[in-house]
Amino acid sequence: MASEGSKPVRIGLLGRGTVGAAFAALLAERADAVEAATGRRPEIAGVLTRGEGSFEQILAGSDLLVELIGGTEPAREHVLAALRAGKPVVTANKQLLAQHGDELFAVAREAGVQLRFEAAVAAVIPIVRTIQESFGVTEISKVFGIVNGTTNFILSEMAATGAGYEEVLARAQELGYAEADPSDDVGGADAAAKMAILARLAFHTPVTLAEVAFEGIEGIQPDDLAYAKELGLSLKLLGVAERRDGGISVRVFPCFLYPGHPLAPIEGPFNAVMVEAPAISEVTMSGPGAGGLQTASAVLGDVVSILAGDAPVHETRVELPIVADVGSSFYLHLEVADRPGVLARVATVLGEHGISVKSFVQRGTGSEARLVMVIHECLESKFSAAVEELSGLDDLRSPPRSIRVIEEEY
Ligand SMILES: NC(=O)c1ccc[n+]([C@@H]2O[C@H](COP(=O)([O-])OP(=O)(O)OC[C@H]3O[C@@H](n4cnc5c(N)ncnc54)[C@H](OP(=O)(O)O)[C@@H]3O)[C@@H](O)[C@H]2O)c1
Repeated sequence: MASEGSKPVRIGLLGRGTVGAAFAALLAERADAVEAATGRRPEIAGVLTRGEGSFEQILAGSDLLVELIGGTEPAREHVLAALRAGKPVVTANKQLLAQHGDELFAVAREAGVQLRFEAAVAAVIPIVRTIQESFGVTEISKVFGIVNGTTNFILSEMAATGAGYEEVLARAQELGYAEADPSDDVGGADAAAKMAILARLAFHTPVTLAEVAFEGIEGIQPDDLAYAKELGLSLKLLGVAERRDGGISVRVFPCFLYPGHPLAPIEGPFNAVMVEAPAISEVTMSGPGAGGLQTASAVLGDVVSILAGDAPVHETRVELPIVADVGSSFYLHLEVADRPGVLARVATVLGEHGISVKSFVQRGTGSEARLVMVIHECLESKFSAAVEELSGLDDLRSPPRSIRVIEEEY
């Protein structure tokens, strides 16, 4: 309830770019609602950009800091200074948390102040608070999903239009779904940072960006998507953090999904995250994964939680090893010479490595001949060994192409 004449809460705003400007506007627009919900009226106490404001003055004059600069420095330095000064911080900065999470959480814990970061993963989808709060003591087995909207837009467009990667990337840039330098998004590093954060929260274990294996979508060919359509598959860049063989596996990779999968219908620049645990079965949340207003809305939600006194648990408690070699199912695309016995030779190599084929299409003749198949789950090391041996066959016209597949039925 609003208390008449209560002291306003002074917010120091670090960064006023796409998200920072949207946050300032949203805060002004929703000030009455924030006051009604928390009893404190928010006001911006100072703004820091490259050309405006002094951090020391803003820190001294604020009760709470919102960091929307991005990158690691000076964001890290400023966030640490605020926490050490006993001031809660809200940030949307995935790189900062994925690379310096241990240090930041330790300082927040020591200082007894909140560090909230809902907007750092999948923007407005409330996945951070869901894992921290709703499932805070649930033994989560897997968190996975589409956590990069740029790549989801590109893959959806490639599948829908048959156009090549470069052409669709240019369109994504025109529409503002991809940055001028798209490498962090299309190469998988952006999704990897988000998965490091989600894995840390879900498994209560320190995971850094360096421990997340990631692949991007730059090598995806239009015909992979066309053939996959025939097999009933759609392609997504997935981030997966799961318990495996006594440890955890945290990875980002392009992956085919069968039509019944809850992530299969997620098209365009959207995000969707699933959480699985024996106690909850599975939960899927989807929505916009970026955008100034949407991200600002998640930041404002964190500000309100701090003012309301909600304290999420974000302690790192256990050490779990990273399991590097895990089981996966694969799509395998072989451009082969059109000659007798090829199929038998390919089948022999796969059989010798203990790999079995789930479905298969053979297309084209002459210089267009191809074998495209989905193989059942096997250890990735086994699959790599088989692919290496296949590469050595005279029957192949170009190196084999493979993409992971989630076989699970939903
Ligand atoms: N944009 C999105 O859709 C989105 C979605 C989710 C999360 N995020 C995260 O939100 C954060 C902000 O992103 P954004 O898109 O708003 O970035 P942005 O548009 O580039 O804005 C960055 C702001 O920080 C300021 N800044 C940069 N370097 C600085 C420095 N050394 N000292 C002081 N101020 C500095 C800039 O100052 P000038 O104004 O002087 O240039 C600008 O005001 C990032 O962590 C990003 O990952 C963004």
